[in-house]
Amino acid sequence: MLLRNGKSIGALWLGTLFFASLMSAPSSSASDRQAQTLQELLSRYDPSSCKECHEDIYEQWEKSHHARSIMDIYMDRYLTTGVLAVKNPKQATRKNFPCFKCHFPQMENASDPVAGEIAEAILNKDKETMKKLNISCLVCHRDKGIVHGLPKSDLLYGTRNLKEHPDEHFERVRKSPILKRSIMCGQCHGLGPNLEFEHPVQCATLYGSYLNAYIPSGGTKTCQECHMENSDHLCPPNFQDRKDVSKRLSRSLSLDVGTLFYVPQITPGKFVPTVVVNTTISSRAGHRIPDG
Ligand code: HEC
Ligand code: HEC
Ligand code: HEC
Ligand code: HEC
Ligand code: HEC
Repeated sequence: MLLRNGKSIGALWLGTLFFASLMSAPSSSASDRQAQTLQELLSRYDPSSCKECHEDIYEQWEKSHHARSIMDIYMDRYLTTGVLAVKNPKQATRKNFPCFKCHFPQMENASDPVAGEIAEAILNKDKETMKKLNISCLVCHRDKGIVHGLPKSDLLYGTRNLKEHPDEHFERVRKSPILKRSIMCGQCHGLGPNLEFEHPVQCATLYGSYLNAYIPSGGTKTCQECHMENSDHLCPPNFQDRKDVSKRLSRSLSLDVGTLFYVPQITPGKFVPTVVVNTTISSRAGHRIPDG
């Protein structure tokens, strides 16, 4: 992989290691290193400071599936039986969590002891800790906000360039070319087959259906236009809100029912009323539903 100035990332990384070993004082910022403890990892991605100023967005996000991205994925079962099982949670390494590539991508910046702490929390059903393992603001507005290169630790990626941003750590916002495009979401909603893992996993494939069915048949909308209207960070559908889900589905799935009275040959005395029912369900979604 090449950076714009022609240096390979590998060379840059070796250079960084070289300088780091020469200097006893830490030369790289905290976010360039792998977090050694779960607390360190969580504080790097802590969304609570964003809440102060982006209250509405925070409240929508808090109720979204992105804010509880590992709560219902049954990791406890994977850690107790099958190829990802561990005898003792402390032996867990990052390899035990291939699912976190999309469900908790912060893991990429964590060390193996952090994996051990996470395994412990999951096996002890420590819900308070599990809730904090989410797709936070910084996952989208920093790590996943750019496709090429490495995200800058003091920059946020948004839909506009802002020379000044009043947050303590993130003093500027850079316009990201992908934030308003479907590929932003495609990074997790259908990436695969994830062959980099010893045990490749794939669970969401919806982006494939969007690209291969919706777009070729003339679809023009982006994921954001259908799911984040006015920057709605709730990203509906939210299956916890059944009323809203049925309202959305009745708008997007139309059901046409036609009936036809039908009897092949009427025999007096042996009349059985028969009806042929033709149903047509059409979907206005940008992909097949349901997914997975
Ligand atoms: C002290 C207040 C404050 C804090 C804290 C803060 N922001 Fe902001 N943010 C703002 C203001 C003000 C704007 C500019 C809004 C405008 O011009 O409409 C902004 C703009 C943004 C934008 C650019 C919006 C766009 O058009 O794309 C993003 C993204 C953003 N903030 C994310 C965050 C995140 C993530 C955090 C937490 C790490 C955060 N902000 C913390 C005040 C804050
Ligand atoms: C390539 C990215 C990716 C990987 C890897 C991945 N998932 Fe997912 N998973 C998603 C996305 C995106 C969704 C939500 C999309 C949807 O529902 O269509 C999801 C949804 C789920 C759901 C449904 C959650 C709910 O609240 O309804 C479960 C359960 C799940 N994943 C389990 C797993 C497990 C277990 C693994 C590892 C063995 C895994 N996933 C690996 C991306 C991924
Ligand atoms: C799943 C990815 C994702 C997460 C998580 C996320 N955002 Fe966003 N955010 C986006 C995208 C995509 C847009 C651009 C939406 C559009 O305009 O089409 C956006 C837009 C914004 C904007 C600009 C709003 C506007 O009106 O123009 C702000 C501010 C923002 N996000 C802040 C936050 C904060 C704060 C959090 C955490 C509480 C957060 N985001 C979490 C993806 C995300
Ligand atoms: C970092 C990976 C990631 C990114 C980027 C991402 N998502 Fe998700 N998304 C997930 C995962 C994982 C879930 C499932 C969480 C759960 O319920 O366990 C999810 C859930 C959802 C859901 C709820 C439906 C369901 O079945 O759970 C919607 C809708 C959604 N995402 C839309 C979007 C849109 C739109 C974007 C782009 C703006 C986006 N996502 C970007 C990973 C991601
Ligand atoms: C033309 C509008 C449209 C577009 C474009 C679109 N969606 Fe959807 N999506 C829907 C509708 C409609 C549903 C059904 C549920 C509902 O009505 O909210 C849905 C459902 C979903 C679900 C829940 C799936 C499930 O199993 O129930 C996820 C996740 C999702 N979309 C993500 C995405 C992502 C990611 C993209 C972009 C690659 C995208 N959508 C593009 C309209 C759209």
